[in-house]
Amino acid sequence: MNVVCVLRTTPALEEAIRAVDPRVVLTAAPRLDTVAAALPEAEVYFGWELPADRLAQAPHLRWVHCAGAGVDRLPLAELAARGVTVTNSRGTHVTLLAEYALGAMLMFARHLHVAHRQQILHRTWHRPPALGGQLAGRTVAILGLGAIGADVARRCAQFGMRVIGLKREPGAVPHVERVYGPEALEACLREADYVVVTLPLTPQTRRMIGAAQLAVMKPHAVLVNLGRGEVVDEAALTEALATGRLRGAALDVFEQEPLPSESPLWALENVLITPHTAGSAPYYADLAVPLFCENLGRYLRGEPLRNVVDPARGY
Ligand code: GLV
Repeated sequence: MNVVCVLRTTPALEEAIRAVDPRVVLTAAPRLDTVAAALPEAEVYFGWELPADRLAQAPHLRWVHCAGAGVDRLPLAELAARGVTVTNSRGTHVTLLAEYALGAMLMFARHLHVAHRQQILHRTWHRPPALGGQLAGRTVAILGLGAIGADVARRCAQFGMRVIGLKREPGAVPHVERVYGPEALEACLREADYVVVTLPLTPQTRRMIGAAQLAVMKPHAVLVNLGRGEVVDEAALTEALATGRLRGAALDVFEQEPLPSESPLWALENVLITPHTAGSAPYYADLAVPLFCENLGRYLRGEPLRNVVDPARGY
C-alpha cells in the first residue's frame, strides 16, 4: 500500500510510519516535486497541501491526511467528488499556537515591542508614563473555538482574562463566559480588548472581518490573527492600523504569502509580522507523525479515522 509523505521528517519517524504495517510502502520527502513520481501509485497522501493538478496524477488516492489544521490548500471539492477521505492534524500544534497568541498579547500589553525598538534603535533609558498594563481583567474575544481557540481560551483564563468567543454552532466552551454565533460577530468584537482569530478559511469566514467590523472594535484593541489571512480584509486592517483606529495587530497569516515586500504592513510600528510560523517548531514532525501513524493503523484495519474533515464545512 503506497503512502506518499511530503513533510520534513526524520529517518526515525519514517521508520515509525513503515512500522505501522508491513504492507506500507513509503515515499517521503520535504517537497512534493521530489516525490511526484510516486503519485500515480499512491493510495494515501500525507502533507500540507496538494494542488489539483497533482491530485489528478494520483488516480488511486483514497485518503489524504493534512499535516496542519487548515485544509484550505487542498482541493476539497475534487477530493469529495472522488470520494477521497480527508483528515487533518487539528490538536497537533495547539500549544504552539496558543503560546504565540499569549506572547503577542503580552507583547502589546507590556509594550515589549516598544522597549525593544528603543533599546536597539536608540539605546536610551526612557520611561514613558504609560508603558503598558496587564492582561488580567481584560476581555479577549476568540473567533473560532475549535481545538486551537479552546486552548487559547484556557490559557487566557489562567492569565485572569475575561474570555468570550464566537463559534459557528454556539454552545458551552470551558473557560468562555459567553459564546456568540456568527450573526453576533459585531457584538462580540465591541466588547473585546484583544481579538484572537483562529478561524479556518471557508466561504463563510472569507473576509468576515472587514471595515465595518473593524470600525466597531475598541480603539485600544489589538487583533491577533493566527487563522488565515483571507478571513480579514487586509486593506481595511492596514488602514485601521495606519490611522491609529486600531491599536495594534500581530499577524502570522496574510492574504498573500509570502507577504509582498511592497505591503505597507511591513512599515507599521504597531504591527508584529511573523511568516506563518505561529504553529511551527523544529520538531513539528514529531508532533504530527504519531497521529498519522494512528490513523494509518485505523485505515488499514478498516476502522473510523480520527479528525475527519467535512468537505462541505471546510474543516
Ligand atoms: C497551519 O497554518 C495549519 O493550518 O496548521
